[in-house]
Amino acid sequence: MIVAIDGPAGAGKSTVAQRLAERLGFRYLDTGAMYRALTWLAISRSVPLAQGERLGELAEEYPVILDAQRRVWIADTDVTSSIRKSDIDRLVPVVARHPQVRSVMRARQRELAEEGDVVIEGRDIGTVVAPDAEVKVYLNAERAVRAKRRMAERPEIGADALATDLRLRDESDAARMRPAEDAIQIDTTGLDVDDVVDQIEELVRARQPA
Ligand code: DC
Repeated sequence: MIVAIDGPAGAGKSTVAQRLAERLGFRYLDTGAMYRALTWLAISRSVPLAQGERLGELAEEYPVILDAQRRVWIADTDVTSSIRKSDIDRLVPVVARHPQVRSVMRARQRELAEEGDVVIEGRDIGTVVAPDAEVKVYLNAERAVRAKRRMAERPEIGADALATDLRLRDESDAARMRPAEDAIQIDTTGLDVDDVVDQIEELVRARQPA
């Protein structure tokens, strides 16, 4: 079974998707980490982020590896913590918007999804990567709450800079942030992680054979 979890930054996707995967005994696939790792590699090799063709080739040549310990690897380098920095937050939408990059990433994501029993989080999972996913969820939350959650993850950035970053990121991600027509939408503004996970788990159990 494939569980697709989409939504904007700060909606709670990662925490919810990881906890859900643990409860269900499913694998967890963080597609944002794949775009982040490619962005890290492009910067470290001084590849201009406007060059979609070159970035697509880079993605092809250096597949991102997400290991069982949830570490993220690219070009034999463990980039797990480097990809969670604010410079990557800011630059990843520039990389993720190139069609050449998306086509390589989506093909790889589909391959990984085909292995089955997986919770996949991203922006375009229910719409493009896995339109046949048995369970599709679109998480959202008020922007002020999303900013607050980001603040907890990136205490080094000031609140104002963070709010601006989030707004810019929403704008650049907007083209890909459409909920699938058959997605269940959950507003996580006033909910605990476990409440959200409970709701999705129920959807999954209802679709699992008895
Ligand atoms: O979820 P995240 O913040 O780690 O995502 C990082 C960036 O990658 C974000 O700008 C949106 C982009 N992204 C995407 O375009 N498609 C995906 N399936 C996942 C992430």
